[in-house]
Amino acid sequence: MIDIQKIRADFPILSLNVYGKPLVYMDNGATTQKPQIVIDTLIHMYSAQNANIHRGVHFLSEQATEAYERARQTVREFLNAELSQEIIFTAGVTSAINLVAFSYGERFVRAGDEIIVTVMEHHSNIVPWQMMCERKGARLRVVPVTDSGELDMDDYQRLLSPKTRLVALAHVSNTLGTVNPVREAVCLAHQAGAHVLVDGAQSVQHIPIDIQLIGCDFFAFSGHKLYGPTGIGVLYGRKELLDEMPPYQGGGDMVDCVRFEKTTYNELPFKFEAGTANYIDAVGLESAIRYVRSVGMDNILAHEQDLTQYALKELLKIKGLRMFGMSEKRVATFSFLLDNIHPYDTGMVLDKMGIAVRTGTHCTQPLMQRYGIEGTVRASMTFYNTRKEVDLLCEGLEKARQLFS
Ligand code: ALA
Repeated sequence: MIDIQKIRADFPILSLNVYGKPLVYMDNGATTQKPQIVIDTLIHMYSAQNANIHRGVHFLSEQATEAYERARQTVREFLNAELSQEIIFTAGVTSAINLVAFSYGERFVRAGDEIIVTVMEHHSNIVPWQMMCERKGARLRVVPVTDSGELDMDDYQRLLSPKTRLVALAHVSNTLGTVNPVREAVCLAHQAGAHVLVDGAQSVQHIPIDIQLIGCDFFAFSGHKLYGPTGIGVLYGRKELLDEMPPYQGGGDMVDCVRFEKTTYNELPFKFEAGTANYIDAVGLESAIRYVRSVGMDNILAHEQDLTQYALKELLKIKGLRMFGMSEKRVATFSFLLDNIHPYDTGMVLDKMGIAVRTGTHCTQPLMQRYGIEGTVRASMTFYNTRKEVDLLCEGLEKARQLFS
């Protein structure tokens, strides 16, 4: 069990008042707050360890390089990946997926091939594949979602064929909160001879991850959703694939020997890290990983599962509330509409009560289209949220209902 008051004290922003009311932060799906230890790490890096990495023989450069490469090791352990060469630092999930869509696409995708995504994907796990399909003459296939917000696994199986080159799917839906059966999806794809990219943007902060157990070929996540800094993320890729893939961007650090006649490239993972890496935020991310590991991912999961059950029960008691996403396997992310009230109006009422939620399409327009709606209110909770905050959310929703209905 976690000591929730102690946990909350680790996050300075959680003691803010907004419009004179204690902040209730439930927009964790968009970004998470940072514990003091992460903030301190960034200050320490800038004030005592800042020098460009992989470039200098001087003391500071060596220290920064060591810290950056140690961060890579920590990420490898956190994901239980086999090799640190398989861990590439990127700016976030979006740039990780774009890297794969370009580089994997160049090497492995031919005209007539098929890429499978799902209706519940975030735009960042749709658009890069569409762009790649256009470039390569490939076709995008889409797995439907059931009324309760789960993947239709029968349709998924039907879509898999010898033409399938790659499947790209979210581990957890940022809108519905559904936890997808990624292990099963990977097994089925591999049987069909396809590779799999798992978008872990909404899972790493909630669920212990074991890449080797999931068995996927690529996995991506963003630091800022894991209580770390913005502008840093991770792409895990299977070494055999990364070895064959061409570089995505050219520049310093990704090269071995540069000649006008022919340039050769650096080894993994540097081949995919052109230019000055975001070493400061990589070390900040490491600090965030150390923090969640000190709390314990199993403890985080247990607290959040309790919160999920409580929030679901309380939210469903509210008259006129329509929930999108009723999967039993889920995280504490709730998308809903209240009577015919526009989500922005609901969001505004909550905001004035100090409650931060997201409203709109959540970068999942095809999913909104699937349900025939224009947007939802989304309350996304995490391990520093409490039952009391759920009660405040419910009070706010009652108030919105009375105001607008
Ligand atoms: N992808 C983030 C969200 O779901 C921004 O809110």
